Amino acid sequence: MEIKRIAVLTSGGDAPGMNAAVRAVVEQGIHHGLEVYGVYYGYRGLVEGDFRLLTLSDVHHNIRRGGTMLYSARYPEFRHKEVQEKAINQLEKFGIDALVVIGGDGSFAGALSLSKLGFPAVGIPGTIDNDIPGTEYTIGFDSAVSVALDAIDKISDTASSHNRTFVVEVMGRHAGDIAIWAGVAAGADAIIIPEEDFLIEDVVRRTEAGRSAGKDYSLVVLAEGAMDVNNFVEQFQVLAPEQSVRGVTLSHVQRGGTPTARDRVFATLMGAKSVDLLIEGQKAIYLGVREEQLAVFDIVGTLEKTEHQVRQDLFQLNQDLTDRGI
Ligand code: ADP
Ligand code: F6P
Repeated sequence: MEIKRIAVLTSGGDAPGMNAAVRAVVEQGIHHGLEVYGVYYGYRGLVEGDFRLLTLSDVHHNIRRGGTMLYSARYPEFRHKEVQEKAINQLEKFGIDALVVIGGDGSFAGALSLSKLGFPAVGIPGTIDNDIPGTEYTIGFDSAVSVALDAIDKISDTASSHNRTFVVEVMGRHAGDIAIWAGVAAGADAIIIPEEDFLIEDVVRRTEAGRSAGKDYSLVVLAEGAMDVNNFVEQFQVLAPEQSVRGVTLSHVQRGGTPTARDRVFATLMGAKSVDLLIEGQKAIYLGVREEQLAVFDIVGTLEKTEHQVRQDLFQLNQDLTDRGI
């Protein structure tokens, strides 16, 4: 079937670089003579029929903007088959032949459901969490790590001035990727991630070993999926009463700001490629990055059968480099 009209939506937590992907979908679509509709507010807009035809002037200047120009929504109702069928009815009503979904693992589960119901969908990984199976990077992750690192560097200035221990909680939902990358880049004494068991006694030992080796402050980067920061600080303080400990939650700051060059470049590559693949007649696939190249994955096979893997090697390297207390 020849594709004439496609739609694009952003869903779940917004991520810097989503706009760059939308822009590439629209520009590549128009370049190939397609009509490209934006679906506003993710799957909620899909079900409610919030579709608007996009033009080049809608997207021209968006490559450098954070957030998502198509808005986003959490819409748990989309888990139900009858709601997914309503969405397909809306797509058919607007004469849409295929849908590009930009979002995280939840949004991809939505794309998987649409694919299983026979509607052509292509996924572009857009989430700061970096938690999509198969791909090494998701759009927004690099920007979020940069923001987290910038904040941690600032915190480190004051930590050093007061010889304090800071525990910085970063986002990532169930994944430890932001914690690993920001923690390694900041030279953290300890990185705590949900994928690895930990003992607070061991974290205390690491900070003490760092101090004995001459450090004038200590830094722990804690992934939100591993433990609540207040709880962590409370338990840490009981075990290390001599340390002045503070907890900081970076929270949604990590989702905002200008996308990095890397996020914009991969978003552009993936946005354009998603249109090319739909024109070729592909469906039920998603894009990703493997060894710095674009990669294409099968939504049904890969999403259902593969788990996201964190970079254990980086995590272990940081442990080894900072483990002076053996
Ligand atoms: P993210 O895509 O960033 O992981 P969410 O987990 O909130 O964010 O998912 C975004 C949206 O995707 C949800 O609000 C819901 O509309 C849809 N979604 C999530 N899980 C499923 C599922 N299992 N089946 C169908 N749709 C889903
Ligand atoms: O999925 C992106 C993310 O920012 C996670 O890192 C975080 O756990 C969650 O979204 C926060 O969700 P909300 O914006 O709904 O508070």
